[in-house]
This record gives sequence, structure tokens and C-alpha cells, in this order.
Amino acid sequence: MSIFKTKINQNSESFRRNYFLMKEKVRELEQIMQKSLFQGEEKYLDRNKKSGKLTARERIELLLDQDSPFLELLPLAGLGGDGFAVGGTLTAGIGIISCRLCIITANVGTIKGGSIDYTTLQKNLRISEIALENGLPVINLVESAGANLPDQAKIFNYGGTAFREITRRSKKGLPTISVVFGNSTAGGAYIPGMSDYVIMVKNQAKVFLAGPPLVKMATNEVVDDEALGGADMHSRISGVSDYIANDELDGIRIAREIMENLPSPSKRTENQLPSQAEFLEGSSSFQSGRSAIASPLYNSEEILGVVSADVRIPFDSRELIARISDGSEFSEFKPNYGSTLITGYAAINGYRIGIIANNGVLFSEAANKGTQFIQLCNQNNTPLLFLQNITGFMVGKKYEEEGIIKHGANMINAVSNSTVPAITIITGASYGAGNYAMCGRAFKPRFLFSYPNSKIAVMGPDQLAGVMEIIQRDAAQKAGIDYDEDKGAYIKQKITSEADKQSNAYFATGQLWDDGVIDPRQTRNYLKLCLEVIHNTDFKGTDGYGVFRM
Ligand code: COA
Repeated sequence: MSIFKTKINQNSESFRRNYFLMKEKVRELEQIMQKSLFQGEEKYLDRNKKSGKLTARERIELLLDQDSPFLELLPLAGLGGDGFAVGGTLTAGIGIISCRLCIITANVGTIKGGSIDYTTLQKNLRISEIALENGLPVINLVESAGANLPDQAKIFNYGGTAFREITRRSKKGLPTISVVFGNSTAGGAYIPGMSDYVIMVKNQAKVFLAGPPLVKMATNEVVDDEALGGADMHSRISGVSDYIANDELDGIRIAREIMENLPSPSKRTENQLPSQAEFLEGSSSFQSGRSAIASPLYNSEEILGVVSADVRIPFDSRELIARISDGSEFSEFKPNYGSTLITGYAAINGYRIGIIANNGVLFSEAANKGTQFIQLCNQNNTPLLFLQNITGFMVGKKYEEEGIIKHGANMINAVSNSTVPAITIITGASYGAGNYAMCGRAFKPRFLFSYPNSKIAVMGPDQLAGVMEIIQRDAAQKAGIDYDEDKGAYIKQKITSEADKQSNAYFATGQLWDDGVIDPRQTRNYLKLCLEVIHNTDFKGTDGYGVFRM
């Protein structure tokens, strides 16, 4: 492999300006991320503390192995929406428990009793998909008042899917362990009910299909919540609970013990993952001294100067690759052909990876090169990393005549049928069919993260508003009426600002179009963890494709 030599001049005006702008974006991200840390109103937190209970995040912290990273997933789900909280009433991510990679979810019982609104359920389904695809066991830290009743129409069917998925994972040998810390009613009761292992905390867990008021209403039976669904009753009489825990810490200890007793499914490499401190810092020196893997030669801080804060300004993706790959090495494939798409092999934390990165608009040659490279990675069983910064495919008569549609379609065909795992990072623009060819959300990469500067939409807001203006002018002409300039300008401005708002990284992550917005400096840390997770399962490149249009 060749070491990439940077051409960046860190003293240049453009580098410094861009660094400053990206730093602002990272600060904004840090501020917005604070919203996801909200654990409930003071009165509920006080009540929780007084009854000796921990918060969802404290439970996760205690459950994880010492120094385990916690790759939080979808922390900003629902941002900008009208749900209960940013991130829903569920905190979720990947960490290491008893030396095994594992998905952890924790209901935030201090927000609306941990009841499940639409965002929370959608987040739960995505987390479940990640667990299944990557062969990960799941530990649920449960305290949930079940369905958010006013949302019931929106969530009823999806709720069924969430339960179905627990058993489908179980069938695949991926157990779910539930530790119940508090009230878990109806839908909340089925989470432990469907799980492979259930631990209930004494005097705290209350698990029932219907609480005492509803039972009284339905059957006139008068019963208290402990007798109806307490940990003791479920551990001794109903058998819904497999273990009774003396307190929260004991519950967490038992969950760790169960994990320890599972057959070791992990093919984890020896201790090469970043610690939580390194993971959060996003520093560039991840070399813990525990492995012989070379760090990038360039500091990850420089990524903020390299990646354009303004998606309309191009940057050389090789400069980003050099700041995330082992030893800044990159073996470029077809470097002199289709130069707006960079393809080649690198290693990240010792794992070989095929990288496909945009370096401008996609022309036919670039799309063909991408198609070939995806096939090669399937042939040699190498996971793919897509670094998206794409304004779309080239348009115009010349390009239509040479068949840009079919060349683009071939790349989309290749990515659709590829069976090696893929990770996508949106580093800038993600527009139009370029998003599809570069393994956007619909093409099911195992993980998809966005940078805070990124934009995702059918096309840029100015182009979108401009196209609408042309269509409206043509329509007025056909109808033989004058185009109203003032009204047109007003509509154009409105469309531009609306499209701009809806193409923002935060709008996208709020809609769960990605698995999180990340600090660009942490890219290598995220990739290290995601590659570790991906290599937890066996995978095999496809041995066949659909018809490629020639
Ligand atoms: N849907 C929507 N909101 C709910 C809810 C649900 N299922 N369960 C509780 N909440 C809300 C409450 O309205 C209250 O909201 P507020 O902060 O705006 O006042 C908040 O959660 C806390 O509830 P509270 O009853 O004060 O908490 P608690 O700790 O005393 O009791 C429960 C917790 C779970 C025992 C109790 O809230 C309850 O019985 N909820 C209904 C559970 C149910 O029947 N679910 C059926 C789902 S199909």
C-alpha cells in the first residue's frame, strides 16, 4: 500500500477559514447533543432518587465493562418533532459487557414513565435491525409504561414488529436479556415477556398486562401492584422472571453474569478498541500501545480543515481517507479513470476495507468504476466504506446520449445486490440518485452516520426552487396568463428556505435517516467500533447480480 502524502497547507487562508467554520458546526452539534442527555423533569428525577433508583444512563454506565466504549445510536431521533424527548424515551447503543459486544437499550423511566411514543418505537426497530444484522445479543434495562396511549394509532402495528423481532433474534441464537427496574405495563410487560432471560428487581419491578385500576374496572378485583406483578410473585409463582435481584446493582450484576455464561460468539480482536475516554475525545492518537496497528500519520483534528463546511465547495476525499486509515495508507484502484469517484483499499484498525469516496459529480466513467469496484469487493469479500459527498449524476444532452441513466443504474444495481457489509458516512452533500448509488439509507448499509455540515435531499434548495420557478413560468405561458413576478419570488423564497431546512443534517437525523450525527474528528473511532461489530458475523460477497444494462 502507498502512504498518502497530504497536499494540505494548514497555514492557508482557506484551510483556516474552513477549520473555523467546521469547529462552529461541531460546537453546535455538542450543544444539540445536550438535548439527548435530558433524563426528565426535576420532580421525576427527585422522586426517582428518593426511591433509591438510578437513571437510565447511570444503569448503562454500571452495566458496561470498565473502559468499554459506548457507541450511542440515534441519540437525536425525533429532534424537531413533537415526541416526548430528543432521542425518544430510549437510550441505546453498542458496548462491551463481560467481554462481549452487545446492544444495550434503556427505557428512560423518568420521562413519561418510559412510555413508548412513535419516535421511540421507530428507534427501537432500527436498533433491533442492527442487532439482528450484526449478530449481537441485546440487554434491555426496562422501565416502561407501555404504549404512549395518545399515540396508539401510530404505533400499534409497529409495536407488534418490535416483539416479533425479539423472538426472531432468539431463533438465530441471539438472546435478549431484560432487567426490569420499575413499572412495566402492557407493552412494557411484553418486553420481558418475550425475552430469553428476565431479571426483576425486588420491590421495584411491577410487571402486568393491566395495573390495579384497570383490573378493578374490568373485573372488580381489588389487588395491589406488588401482588399483581411484583418481582417476588413473578419469580416464585408465574415464572415470568428467571432471577430476582436484591437491588438495581444486583440486577446489573446478574445480567453481566448471564452474558458471561453465553457461549463466546465474539470474534473480537484483542483489545484494539478505543476506550470510552478516547472515544468521546476523538483524539487522533488511538494507539493504546496494545497493538501494532499504525495510526494515521495526520492528526484527526485536521479533518475539520479538510472537509468543506459549505457543501458547494469541493474537497479531495483522499485527504480525509489519509486521516482515518491505518498508517494513512491507501491503495487506489483506477486512479486515472473516472476521477470524480475515488476507489481503493485501506485498513482501519487492521481490518481491510474497500473505500468508495466522491470527488465531484458522478459521470458515466465514475459510475462504471464504482460498479466494478463493488463487484471486486464482493469477489474478495471485503466490507465497503462509502464516503458520500455527492451532488448527483451529471445532467445534460451529452451525458444523456452516452447513457448516464444506465451507468448510474448499474452502480445502484451493484450496491443493491452487494452482500458484503457496508458503512456509509455522509461527509457533505447527499443529493439525488447519488445518495442511492453511494449506499444511502434505502440500500441498507450496516451503519450510516452524518457529519454536522451535511445536506441530504433530492437536490439543493436553490436548484429545487429554480426548477419549480421554471415549471410555473411554463405553466403560466401555456395557460396564456402573465407570470406573477412578486408572487413567484415569494413562493421561490419559501420553497428555498423550506427545502434548506429539510435537507439539514439535524432534520435528517430527527427523521432517523441516519444512525447519528458525528464529530468528524471521531470518524476513525466510529469506524473501529463498527468494523469490530461487522466482523462479529460471517459474511460472503454475492456470487451473482441481476441484469446489468449495457
Ligand atoms: N402513555 C402516555 N403517558 C403516560 C403513560 C402512557 N402509557 N403512562 C404514564 N404516562 C405519563 C403520565 O401521564 C405522567 O405525565 P406527566 O409527566 O406529563 O404528568 C408521567 O408519564 C408520569 O406518570 P405517573 O403516573 O406520574 O408515574 P408513576 O411512576 O406514578 O406511575 C405507571 C407509573 C406506569 C404505573 C403509571 O403511569 C401508569 O399506570 N401508566 C399507564 C400504564 C398503562 O396502562 N399502559 C398501557 C399501555 S398499552
